[in-house]
Amino acid sequence: SQKNDFKENIHSNGSCQQLPQTIIIGVRKGGTRALLEMLSLHPDIAAAESEVHFFDWEDHYRNGLQWYINQMPFSYPHQITVEKTPAYFTSPKVPERVYNMNKSMRLLLILRDPSERVLSDYTQVFYNHLQKHKPYPSIEQFLIKDGELNVDYKAINRSLYYIHMQNWLKYFPLDHIHIVDGDKLIKDPFPEIEKVERFLKLSPQINASNFYFNKTKGFYCLRDSGRERCLHESKGRAHPQVDTRLLEKLQEYFHEPNKKFFELVGRTFDWHT
Ligand code: A3P
Repeated sequence: SQKNDFKENIHSNGSCQQLPQTIIIGVRKGGTRALLEMLSLHPDIAAAESEVHFFDWEDHYRNGLQWYINQMPFSYPHQITVEKTPAYFTSPKVPERVYNMNKSMRLLLILRDPSERVLSDYTQVFYNHLQKHKPYPSIEQFLIKDGELNVDYKAINRSLYYIHMQNWLKYFPLDHIHIVDGDKLIKDPFPEIEKVERFLKLSPQINASNFYFNKTKGFYCLRDSGRERCLHESKGRAHPQVDTRLLEKLQEYFHEPNKKFFELVGRTFDWHT
């Protein structure tokens, strides 16, 4: 059973560790790190640096809320604490667990074109293997089975957004789940971040001048009190070249699921279908 008694550890300077009032729940490879970093430009945001995996890893969840709070950054009472764990979105047990902690939690979900997300997901695992000097099959070996699209591929399942979204909507109303358009966040981050500020009822403090396009990186980078920085080199990697026919098959496969998702959230996205 879960231990639910906890205290907010207090520092002598008046800051303390607080449970998050908002969580970036995913999706894996949607741009979750970019969203967290950009949101952190706001002075009223205190972000947990690493992925916490409290609600999805049994070893962590069993430790209870005191453990969870201990993972949080020290913050001042007016600040909003945020953590991001992209695996939450696709973990069936997580919505109920988050609800049990805080029914009025405001959730952030960043989504991206489902086919592109599959390629990004593959690329991530490919590099994880490369780092460990382990061989990894080509993307075609995952995408094709008996000459057909292999719909059992985990990365494809994670891109079936409506299935995962349904689990969340059992516990949270739609107006408590703000969806960030991950494709737009790449191309023009500021308007997407402004919407997040409004959703979290933060004062508008992030500016267009906090973002600049870095030609070498090919992505927007951040400018914060004169200091400039880009995301880690593992963010914004080239994806494998996939045969056009196969890519079209993948995109066609997502056509119906995407439609269902659009109906579920009452909004459309510019995804290839
Ligand atoms: P790719 O590396 O496949 O292009 P996550 O942080 O959820 O793992 O998402 C990683 C993705 O964030 C990257 O996927 C990249 O496309 C996207 N992204 C969005 N804004 C970015 C930025 N400003 N710099 C780097 N990557 C960014």
